[in-house]
Amino acid sequence: MNKVIIAPSLLAADFRNLEREFEKINSSGAEWIHFDVMDGLNVPNISFGFPLLDATRKLTNKYIDVHLMIENPSKYFEEFKKYGADGLTIHFENQPNIKEQLQTIKSLGMKAGLVINPDTDVAVLEPYLSELDLILIMSVFPGFGGQKFIDATYDRVKQARKLIEDSRRCIILQVDGGVSLNNSHALICAGADALVCGSALFKADNFEGYVLKLQDNI
Ligand code: DX5
Ligand code: ZN
Repeated sequence: MNKVIIAPSLLAADFRNLEREFEKINSSGAEWIHFDVMDGLNVPNISFGFPLLDATRKLTNKYIDVHLMIENPSKYFEEFKKYGADGLTIHFENQPNIKEQLQTIKSLGMKAGLVINPDTDVAVLEPYLSELDLILIMSVFPGFGGQKFIDATYDRVKQARKLIEDSRRCIILQVDGGVSLNNSHALICAGADALVCGSALFKADNFEGYVLKLQDNI
């Protein structure tokens, strides 16, 4: 089994002490930073955008994994690239031209991801497998950090893993929402290879140690 990618979700960081939060992230074994962009239209919350992405790029060398929860995301792909995004993940729900959007993300030199909400059928992913670097299975309804993990996610991860295996493609399978040590091991066993973790990780007394435990390393 490959090492699991841990992506601390910046939404849960202490914004009064951002530099210190980045020191914690940078000195941990977390490979990615998860960057949630919400516009108040696509989800019932507003988070952050380009100025923070610009600062994030300057504060870390880690892979910046951008999760777009915004209307008309393709309008902004180039700007996300300019400010330092390494990968962009778009929602399947209410989107036109998904294939073209994924191709554009890749043509700009970023990894392309597709995310589905907890009530979207996993099978909808199938037509897009050839364009995908990453599949994200939401384990909460998007919009807020700190929500309760939905248990039906385990079966959905297994289903998505099977789709990936059957396609013989190299696609990262990520889970986002309510991830903690209460479910990380089971998620990895179900086939997840990247875990987003916000509240549980930033609240932990030992950030670095929590990352290791999430990776099933200790
Ligand atoms: C929810 C976001 C998640 C969130 C995860 O809409 O997409 O990335 O920040 O945070 P926790 O781990 O607190 O659920
Ligand atoms: Zn997210």
